[in-house]
Amino acid sequence: MEKLKVAVIGLGRMGAEVSQRLEGKVPNGWLPISHVESAINIPQFEVVAFCDTDTDRLFRLGQHYNVSELYTDYKTLINESKPDVLCIATRTEGRTEIIKYAAQNGVRIIYFEKPISRTILDCKETIDICNENNVTVGYGVNRRYHDTYREAKKILKSGRLGNLKEIVVEHGRSPLYWTHPHSTDIILFFSDSIEFEYLQSTCLIDGNNIHGLVIDEDPIILNAYIKFENGVSASINQANGLNVRLVCENGTITIMKDGERIEIYEGSGYEDLTETLVLNINTSATENAFKELLNASLNNGIAPISTNEILAGMILLNGFVYSSLNEGKRVTKSEIPSDLLITGRSGDYYA
Ligand SMILES: NC(=O)c1ccc[n+]([C@@H]2O[C@H](COP(=O)([O-])OP(=O)(O)OC[C@H]3O[C@@H](n4cnc5c(N)ncnc54)[C@H](O)[C@@H]3O)[C@@H](O)[C@H]2O)c1
Repeated sequence: MEKLKVAVIGLGRMGAEVSQRLEGKVPNGWLPISHVESAINIPQFEVVAFCDTDTDRLFRLGQHYNVSELYTDYKTLINESKPDVLCIATRTEGRTEIIKYAAQNGVRIIYFEKPISRTILDCKETIDICNENNVTVGYGVNRRYHDTYREAKKILKSGRLGNLKEIVVEHGRSPLYWTHPHSTDIILFFSDSIEFEYLQSTCLIDGNNIHGLVIDEDPIILNAYIKFENGVSASINQANGLNVRLVCENGTITIMKDGERIEIYEGSGYEDLTETLVLNINTSATENAFKELLNASLNNGIAPISTNEILAGMILLNGFVYSSLNEGKRVTKSEIPSDLLITGRSGDYYA
């Protein structure tokens, strides 16, 4: 089979910086995390082109990875290199223009970083264009591609602990767009639902940064609650640890330390730790995502995330802020303004 041509736009930490720096600091299954390193490990992929507006970075990484088609303008890259697969790891602003242009100009698989956009409206328009052009889409919400999170879902679905009642995400006191696209996706992944009755949330937002429907910061979530139509509820709190608790009728499955291990607690009322699982993982989350995107695109396999799930994640994120702006009231999907725009700014940096 002829290899698929891969291009990467945005050569920062997620795009192309060497992730060796994280060795020993993150649990098994995370490395390689960068788009370039992961793509290199997929036999059917050939990384042929790079684009970054920072020319020092572009030439340094072009040389490092032996990639010779180097661009500072994404449209020129798409028109000249004609990639089959495009990875986008720029910051959020402008990302949807790149996705739309790529979808309309022959790219078959697009993997882009989170959050997809800054408004629900832009997210909808972007995924509509991807669907109209039959593009297979992947999203940087990488817990759903990680073997440990997937193993926890298998245990959940086995029914050993009864039905799922609540998902609790403990990702610290963290910013909405930087951290919580992961939290909302974890919730969607385990709840198996995108339809919610209501959500409510309290966020830390500086009143000086609220300009009508433009929120010029990356609000910190203090708490968030979602009641899904299928009866499952979910909450995000300020606890540290990057733990996820799947609270079931007869016990709790806990993914500890960002996928380092799974702990199973059983019982009602008091629960006892009955099993600890540490997986032996050979393929990183990003590599899993790429393999499955390839299979979905070439063989009609199931993509590891649907565009409806991507949209649902954006609705939850912007819905949290809308609820908070309204004193934490319960909010339904139809109440959340699709043009509420969150810039994701923290000081001089943007998510
Ligand atoms: N999935 C994850 O686990 C994860 C982790 C960290 C960051 N992220 C997300 O990934 C994105 C990138 O984060 P990062 O830390 O790698 O950022 P970064 O600042 O290290 O890298 C971004 C790169 O994109 C380039 N760039 C920006 N706009 C461009 C454009 N229009 N055309 C070409 N190049 C452009 C910049 O010059 C820079 O080199 C962010 O949106 C962030 O939220 C995801």
